Amino acid sequence: MNRQIKLVQRPTGNISDDCFERVEVPIPEPGDGEALVRTLYLSLDPAMRGWMNEGDSYIAPVELGDVMRGGTLGTVVASNCAELGEGDIVFGGNGWQDYAVARPKHLQKVPADSGLPLSNYLSVLGITGLTAYFGMLDVGKPQPGETVVVSTAAGAVGSVAGQIAAIQGSRVVGLAGSDDKCTWCTEELGFDACINYKTEDWKDQLRAACPDKVDVYFDNVGGDMLNTVLGMNKVGARFVICGAISQYNATERTPGPSNYIRLLTKRSTMQGFVVLDYAQRYPEGIRQLAAWVMAGKIKHREDIVDGLDNAPQAIHKLFDGSNAGKLMVRVSDA
Ligand SMILES: NC(=O)c1ccc[n+]([C@@H]2O[C@H](COP(=O)([O-])OP(=O)(O)OC[C@H]3O[C@@H](n4cnc5c(N)ncnc54)[C@H](OP(=O)(O)O)[C@@H]3O)[C@@H](O)[C@H]2O)c1
Repeated sequence: MNRQIKLVQRPTGNISDDCFERVEVPIPEPGDGEALVRTLYLSLDPAMRGWMNEGDSYIAPVELGDVMRGGTLGTVVASNCAELGEGDIVFGGNGWQDYAVARPKHLQKVPADSGLPLSNYLSVLGITGLTAYFGMLDVGKPQPGETVVVSTAAGAVGSVAGQIAAIQGSRVVGLAGSDDKCTWCTEELGFDACINYKTEDWKDQLRAACPDKVDVYFDNVGGDMLNTVLGMNKVGARFVICGAISQYNATERTPGPSNYIRLLTKRSTMQGFVVLDYAQRYPEGIRQLAAWVMAGKIKHREDIVDGLDNAPQAIHKLFDGSNAGKLMVRVSDA
C-alpha cells in the first residue's frame, strides 16, 4: 500500500494536526513513459506553510484533498521510460507519500556515486543549498571586505548563504535564535560574529558587530529584523528577500518596514527571488556547492526525522527553531 498524507484543512495561524489526513491507497502503476518512484527522503520547508494558504503566490496552493506537496529524493522501482532505470536515484516533487508515478521531465537523476551522502541532494546540494547559492551570488553579490548579515544563520539556507559570502571574502554576521546556534556559526562555519536575536539587546549587539554598517542583508525572516537592518544600510546596500519566516503563521498583516526610506537615502536595492527561476542553472550550482563541500569550505548539518507518519509533527520544528540544520524525513531506506 501507499501511505499518503493529504491536506484536508487550511491552517489559521500555526499548522494544526487536523490540517492533515493520513490514508492508504494501492501503489500506483506507471503508465507508458512513466516511472514508479519510492520515496527515500522528504524535504520539509517553511514554504510549505505558504502552499497551504489560498491565494495568489509564486506557485499554486495545494488543493484540499490533495497529497501535500514536497520535494523528495526517491529510487526508481519500475520504469516504462527509456530515460530512467530501476535503482536510479531521482530528485522530484513527489510529495508526502511512499510512492508516486512521474514522467522523467519532472525528475532529476542524482549521481549515486558522488562520494557524498545521498541526503545531501536534499540539503546542501538540494533546493536550500541552491537558494543560498543563487540568492547570495546573483542577488546579494557580496564583495571582499563588505559586511554581510544573514538571518536564520544556523538554518539550511542561512548557514550556506553565510559561508558563500565568507568564501567571497566578505565579513559575515549571523542572526540566530540560540547561543548554541551562534557558537556553531562562529566556531564551525567561520562567521565573524553571530547574534542571538532572542537576547534583549540584540539590536545593540548587531550594531556593534557591524561597525562599518551593512552592505548585504540576506533576509530569511522579515518583520522587525528586516526593519532593524534597514536602519543600518550603507550606500549601495543590497537587501536579498529570500524569506520571511516570522510572518508565515501571522494571522494579521504586519505593517511595512518603517525604515524603508533608507533604501532611497542610501541608494539601496531590495530584491526578492525564487530559486525555481534558476532551474536551468541548478547543475552549475550543484557542481560548485559539491566542490566546496568536498574541499571543506562549506559545512552543513541535517536534521533527519524518521518515518513519514511523523512529518505533520516534524514540520513544527521549522517554526519553533528546534531543527538543527536541513529538516527532512527519512521515509524509507535506500
Ligand atoms: N526564496 C526562495 O526561493 C527560498 C527557497 C527556500 C527557502 N527560502 C526561505 O529561506 C528561509 C529559511 O528556510 P530553511 O529551509 O533554511 O529553514 P531553516 O532556516 O533550516 O529553519 C527555519 C528557521 O527559522 C527560524 N525561525 C522560525 N521562526 C522564526 C521567527 N519568528 N523569527 C526568526 N527566526 C525564526 C528558526 O531558527 P532560529 O532558531 O534561528 O530562530 C528555524 O530553525 C525561509 O524563510 C524560507 O522560506 C526561500
